Amino acid sequence: MNIKGKVAIVTGASSGIGEATAREFAKEGARIVLAARRVEKLQELAGEIAAMNSGAETLVVQADLSKLEDIQAMIRQTLERFNRIDVLVNNAGFGRLDWLENLDPVKDIQAQIDVNVMGVIQTTRQVLPEMIKQHSGSIINMCSMAGLVGTPTYSIYAASKHAVHGFSEALRREVKPWGIEVSLIYPGGVVTEFAQHAGIKRKTNAKTPAFMLLTAEQVGQAVVKLARNPKRMLVIPWLWNMTVFMNKFLPGLVDYTTIHRFTIPEREDELHAK
Ligand SMILES: NC(=O)c1ccc[n+]([C@@H]2O[C@H](COP(=O)([O-])OP(=O)(O)OC[C@H]3O[C@@H](n4cnc5c(N)ncnc54)[C@H](OP(=O)(O)O)[C@@H]3O)[C@@H](O)[C@H]2O)c1
Repeated sequence: MNIKGKVAIVTGASSGIGEATAREFAKEGARIVLAARRVEKLQELAGEIAAMNSGAETLVVQADLSKLEDIQAMIRQTLERFNRIDVLVNNAGFGRLDWLENLDPVKDIQAQIDVNVMGVIQTTRQVLPEMIKQHSGSIINMCSMAGLVGTPTYSIYAASKHAVHGFSEALRREVKPWGIEVSLIYPGGVVTEFAQHAGIKRKTNAKTPAFMLLTAEQVGQAVVKLARNPKRMLVIPWLWNMTVFMNKFLPGLVDYTTIHRFTIPEREDELHAK
């Protein structure tokens, strides 16, 4: 796909990966719908894109992706302005990371499922009739390594991203005959505001090694590449494929290592409390 002039919806464009993805589409002269709740951030980005003079156009839409009426309004405004949709990047999402019993049933659990799962499903459901009419389109869903490997404190986030994985796989097989492509991207750790919202509390210093961390720009570039050349699955950095392989073929070893290197050291005090 040649990106110039194509209409791309990027959800969660107010920070991190979504913001970087929108910039990458802008460099190529796309017409971009910038969607998220923090409208002032989106307006700032729209101003920056206009100043690039790349021929890119933007439409700013304030939308809470956990609300069906906001999603419907976003698609309505997109079609009113651009009259078509070529690319949908379902990127908006967040994680609240803690032991399951510590997560709030509504603010942490339900809210994550509402945005990370229902937001993706309902947005895709609203866009699909247009792409079917066009007999073309590219849907790119932001998954995560957590969509392939479950790790402690990531239970709900992993559930949400595994749902995105299953949803996308089934959808890909539904829509291909209409010339609609569905790509999944699985980044490892990316330096964004994600960690700020995650509420991570660690006793050990377990974290993604620095050489495996990605910038939002690297992920944004990979997303635009997927719009050009769709792929079933893209794991970045590539090295994470080793973990995916181990988890699939040696799950007992991964269980043992995770429990003994992470869960027990993190929960030692609670484990031995009377
Ligand atoms: N950072 C990582 O390590 C990492 C790794 C793998 C995958 N991911 C995935 O990448 C995606 C982007 O995350 P990020 O790392 O770029 O984090 P981020 O900087 O916190 O960005 C999250 C984006 O999602 C939007 N969002 C959150 N809740 C929303 C809601 N209810 N309605 C509309 N928009 C909402 C936020 O916008 P507003 O707050 O303005 O609404 C923001 O633009 C997420 O799906 C995340 O799961 C991240």
